[in-house]
Amino acid sequence: SLPIAVLVSGSGSNLQSIIDRIEVGALDAEIKLVISNKANAYGIQRAKKYGLPYKVLLHNDFRSREDFDQAMVDAIHAAGIGEDGLVVMAGFMRIVTTTFLSPFEGRVINIHPALLPSFPGVNGQADAADYGVKIAGCTVHFVDEQMDHGPVIIQAAVPCQAGEDGDALEPRILKMEHRIFPQAIQWFAERRLKIVGRHVELAVSGRPAANQP
Ligand code: GAR
Repeated sequence: SLPIAVLVSGSGSNLQSIIDRIEVGALDAEIKLVISNKANAYGIQRAKKYGLPYKVLLHNDFRSREDFDQAMVDAIHAAGIGEDGLVVMAGFMRIVTTTFLSPFEGRVINIHPALLPSFPGVNGQADAADYGVKIAGCTVHFVDEQMDHGPVIIQAAVPCQAGEDGDALEPRILKMEHRIFPQAIQWFAERRLKIVGRHVELAVSGRPAANQP
């Protein structure tokens, strides 16, 4: 199974969706480590409940962004995630630098509660609702140095009804996040994702994409 590290900052409902899909045998992955950059993130409680290894790394304890990123890299390597693993950002509210990305090139994915490239940032749902979109949604993508940016793996659409604000949209988008995130991870586990330029190609089931480890 695919070794994964899951990075959280908050409630960790996406972490929960991954745990649940693994438990029912629909996701062939093993959570080797949960990292939180917030001491009180509920995601850490979830990790404890399921006996998953976890680590709290507070970015204020580090002198620079790069030092913090290096500490995460070290923790992920120490957890036994090598060239074959995947790093999953599940509500991790921090931009990562090349210090973090270069050891895991093509192996870091993120979920965002908007249809990227629209509405990146910390308030994707509210920004989309305030703009007046008729179709909102969520995106799973490979991560690059820009915030909420990189090759798109899968998106789901959520219709935005008249008068709905970000708070009304949030749970409806989250429900779709919980469907598409484990799906994207399973595709990665099946080695079906291939990055071609800025695009992600999904290989036919049973035929691994050439450039995936
Ligand atoms: C999710 O809606 C996720 O898409 C969003 O944070 C929430 C975390 O929820 N991420 C971003 O906004 C990234 N810019 P969770 O902790 O319950 O999984």
